[in-house]
Amino acid sequence: MVFGKNGQVATALSHHLTETPFLGSDTANFLEPLSVLKSLELIKPKIVINASAYTAVDKAESERDAAMQINGTTPGLIANWCKENDAYLIHYSTDYVFQGDGDHSWTEDSPTNPINWYGTTKLQGENAIRESGCKAYIFRISWVYSPWGNNFPKTILRLAKERENLNIVNDQWGAPTDARDVAKVTANLVKNLTKNNVSAAPGLYHLRFEDFQTWYDFAVRIIEQARAKGEGLTLKSLNPISSEQFPTPAKRPKNSRLDTKHPKNLFT
Ligand SMILES: NC(=O)c1ccc[n+]([C@@H]2O[C@H](COP(=O)([O-])OP(=O)(O)OC[C@H]3O[C@@H](n4cnc5c(N)ncnc54)[C@H](OP(=O)(O)O)[C@@H]3O)[C@@H](O)[C@H]2O)c1
Repeated sequence: MVFGKNGQVATALSHHLTETPFLGSDTANFLEPLSVLKSLELIKPKIVINASAYTAVDKAESERDAAMQINGTTPGLIANWCKENDAYLIHYSTDYVFQGDGDHSWTEDSPTNPINWYGTTKLQGENAIRESGCKAYIFRISWVYSPWGNNFPKTILRLAKERENLNIVNDQWGAPTDARDVAKVTANLVKNLTKNNVSAAPGLYHLRFEDFQTWYDFAVRIIEQARAKGEGLTLKSLNPISSEQFPTPAKRPKNSRLDTKHPKNLFT
């Protein structure tokens, strides 16, 4: 079963896992853990995928309890249920667990030290899952986009049709992640787990599918593709700026380069 129904990764997953129950917050509300445990008891899945999360990074700074419950506490309860019922758990985490300094890349062994509340809650979720001792695959991913929901490319495209000038941060480095790539890896893992034919043991894994770049680089690519497709844009100039020129309620890591100590094709 999948927790999350309308999110980017959940929607991408729904194209692969067509026989699987997907539960939205209307049925399994992470702010009401009993509703989550009740759905686990009802369905008794052998594999649980948690694609639900509180992902509003800036809002998390002021809605601290809700973000912690959804990202930290309830995933821990799901993990405890998986441990007790010998079920696998597949869970997603984030580059925001790192403090984001330097220009090196972060592997699964790098020390964590989140600089905002969202990152703190996601790290709490990881820790709670690991402490449960359940058979969990935790995939850290970064900068998720997709044709669904709210994301950076959609915002850039909308603004490029409304404005003549856009300022985009050019000192935060990471890798955009298409939710459809995450879904492919997850569906492949589910298939292999079902057949008892997995090449990777449960554990923590970084997933990256694209080259490191800044948000500005990503925006340039989005605009180039839109122009190539003949989209009518009002945009005349795209300007690189620093993080300091674009203050946000939540601090953003400047270095979100996720790398892996594992073979790159472990899950593909
Ligand atoms: N977005 C990113 O840039 C990014 C980057 C790194 C890691 N990640 C991680 O990747 C995973 C998937 O992210 P995403 O981008 O697909 O997220 P998303 O599009 O923001 O979707 C989040 C999902 O969480 C669900 N949710 C929110 N509050 C809930 C609640 N109280 N109870 C139950 N479900 C609730 C929503 O379900 P309803 O629609 O039913 O309310 C929604 O489907 C998350 O673990 C996220 O932390 C995301």
